[in-house]
Amino acid sequence: MATVKTKTVWFCKECGNESPKWMGRCPACGEWNTMVEERVATGKKSPVAAVSVPGAGHKPMPLSDIDSSVENRISLNNGEVDRILGGGLVEGSLVLVGGEPGIGKSTLSLQIPLHCSNLKTLYVTGEESAKQVKLRAARIGGDDANCMIYSETLMENIIAEAREMMPDLMIVDSVQTMYSQAVESSPGSVSQIKETAAMLLRFAKETGVPVILIGHITKEGSIAGPKVLEHIVDVVLQFEGDNRGTYRLLRSIKNRFGSTSELAVFEMTGKGLREVSNPSEMLIPMHEEGLSGVAVSAMLDGTRPFLIEVQALVSSAAYGTPQRSATGFEVRRLNMLLAVLEKRAGFKLGVKDVFLNMAGGLKVSDPACDLAVICAVLSSNFDFAIPADTCFAGEVGLSGEIRPVAQTDRRVIEAARLGFKRIFVSGFSSLEGLGGQDINGIEVVKVSDVPSLCRTLFKG
Ligand code: TYD
Ligand code: MG
Repeated sequence: MATVKTKTVWFCKECGNESPKWMGRCPACGEWNTMVEERVATGKKSPVAAVSVPGAGHKPMPLSDIDSSVENRISLNNGEVDRILGGGLVEGSLVLVGGEPGIGKSTLSLQIPLHCSNLKTLYVTGEESAKQVKLRAARIGGDDANCMIYSETLMENIIAEAREMMPDLMIVDSVQTMYSQAVESSPGSVSQIKETAAMLLRFAKETGVPVILIGHITKEGSIAGPKVLEHIVDVVLQFEGDNRGTYRLLRSIKNRFGSTSELAVFEMTGKGLREVSNPSEMLIPMHEEGLSGVAVSAMLDGTRPFLIEVQALVSSAAYGTPQRSATGFEVRRLNMLLAVLEKRAGFKLGVKDVFLNMAGGLKVSDPACDLAVICAVLSSNFDFAIPADTCFAGEVGLSGEIRPVAQTDRRVIEAARLGFKRIFVSGFSSLEGLGGQDINGIEVVKVSDVPSLCRTLFKG
């Protein structure tokens, strides 16, 4: 047998760029220290073949003649997952599910076939033995003969098996454990990950079988493996949040068949992940009367409004330089808001430590949370409780003005639905969308700058 000659090449972990020698900085994407050494077989071109989409190889045709019937979607019997996918799993799509270890990727991907007994599923596990999967299935509470467990890591065997079985759904756990004989380097390396994803994509597009692929995440929070992996797949879903807490957040960060930035909320229970269809339930306070340092923000994540508790603690700085720390909120934005409070409303926060926390491990990027953040900070500073039935939605500008935020009306409706009695919004908000809506019992308080907010909220 002829020996396979190999050579050493360097791949960029970020963009997958290949180089014959090591470089400190990837010339393609400009990132530093991302080149990793790998061995590849010589004599043949890189095995990552062009991916054929359905209909490839045909002649060019007018756009108007192309069949525009909507894609076939498969419901996964899980309201939250269906929703963030944009109404179910599209046939022939490749979905990447990323997240930190222990966050629930394997649990969710096993739960899907167990709750869809009508779907013939091929569950390929490279991380756990078939027996471990069985134990997990017993925990989740399902034993489905339609779900085939296949413990294998060689991609050639997996694709052959899948082509023979032709399942309705295929799940691969995880991309980092799979390898192809066509590539020399070890499983988990950049070239193996690219090859595995390309093989699965080819399979999905040619046969129309949707594939859910699980991927690990790096310390920096991006999906391990090159960025090209995210480009190859159709949908990227990423678990967020804290794997010590009970709530798990799944966000769609790329979706060729639906909107992105959609967020699904799950609770990890003893029997797998439970859907939380009304996330405000978990993010707002349980206490009846207000506590100081707490304010509720009516925020929007993706397209869904919900309410979240913002907690702040302001104390005298023990050391010369005050500490500022924020969980789930950008520290730079917090510093900016504190500077606005100092300059525009005369609060001396320069000698105070400020700690900020968003409930539920959620990472918040909606500027509408600004108003709740400054109210929580002021409330903690003065030890003055904001009534528990009050919430806020507004962006704070550098000159201390309170600016309107997108879809204020939907936030007001959500707050009213949850029984809040007062919502503070920008004085410039248009509330036209509220016409005819039932917002019984909620008072909309319009404030246009920070000093007037303080006068209204902390009067007396
Ligand atoms: P897992 O799904 O294996 O995470 P990943 O595949 O992302 O690494 O692990 C989920 C965690 O949740 C694990 O620590 C065990 C726990 N768990 C439950 O609390 N309840 C359950 O029903 C199951 C199956 C797991
Ligand atoms: Mg796992």
